[in-house]
Amino acid sequence: MSSTLSITPLHPSLGAEVVGIDLGRPIDGSTRQSLSRALADHLALVFHDQSLAPADYLAAASVFGPPMEQHYSQHHMPGFPMIGLIWHRNGQRPAERWHTDHTNRERPPAATILYGVEIPSAGGGTSVANMRAAYLALPEDERRRLDALTTFNSLDSDHTDTRPEDRERYGTPIEHPMVRTHPVHGSRAVYFHISKATHISGMTPEASQAYMSGLLDRMIRPEIVYRHVWRKGDVLVIDNRATMHRAHGDYDRRQSRVLWRIIVEGDRPCR
Ligand SMILES: [Fe+2]
Repeated sequence: MSSTLSITPLHPSLGAEVVGIDLGRPIDGSTRQSLSRALADHLALVFHDQSLAPADYLAAASVFGPPMEQHYSQHHMPGFPMIGLIWHRNGQRPAERWHTDHTNRERPPAATILYGVEIPSAGGGTSVANMRAAYLALPEDERRRLDALTTFNSLDSDHTDTRPEDRERYGTPIEHPMVRTHPVHGSRAVYFHISKATHISGMTPEASQAYMSGLLDRMIRPEIVYRHVWRKGDVLVIDNRATMHRAHGDYDRRQSRVLWRIIVEGDRPCR
């Protein structure tokens, strides 16, 4: 580990602040390894006071895996298609339901990385839930039930502005287990995206939605949630292999909230 890197937990269940690194500069091999391990252990990493041009940001994100294209191309940053703009003024609604990103991909992103470029004066946070802890807290019989289930995933059913070419490329249903083993940490976590899952294996779409919704209500408790309060210049790295996250839309829409998002390639989820 780099001699100046320090990692301090932010919440008893997940989240850690990383101090002593400028993500705008090249990152050496041992620091990259330390950061990958820290992400698998803490599930969310926060770096404050970063100042990143798009190309620097892409280079820093690659510590966690190769950046991959995001499927709503209407929100790509002009000139940098691997960076997505999260910004309500281009017609997006904050993603307020608990989810994990891009489950309709065969190899969904290992991590989602967000960079706070414009931050409202109050509200607009991002919460991250530890789905490893959520899995362990379920009754044994429900864990066994979930272990055997899979979801079929496509693009979000409730998005109306999806481009036909994105639907063509990314709309094919992909099956994933509802419980996945973390490839670095070795632990298991609950894994699904309620609005990308068309249904659960052996269940109707309606029963699938009701079951996932009930699971979220039972599983996600304050004890397993780190709520990130944004400051301009923050980078938040979220481990999608064992968490869910959501945005908070509780901010004044006359103010701007702009996050730059990068997702990085991961493994195919395995039981
Ligand atoms: Fe997301």
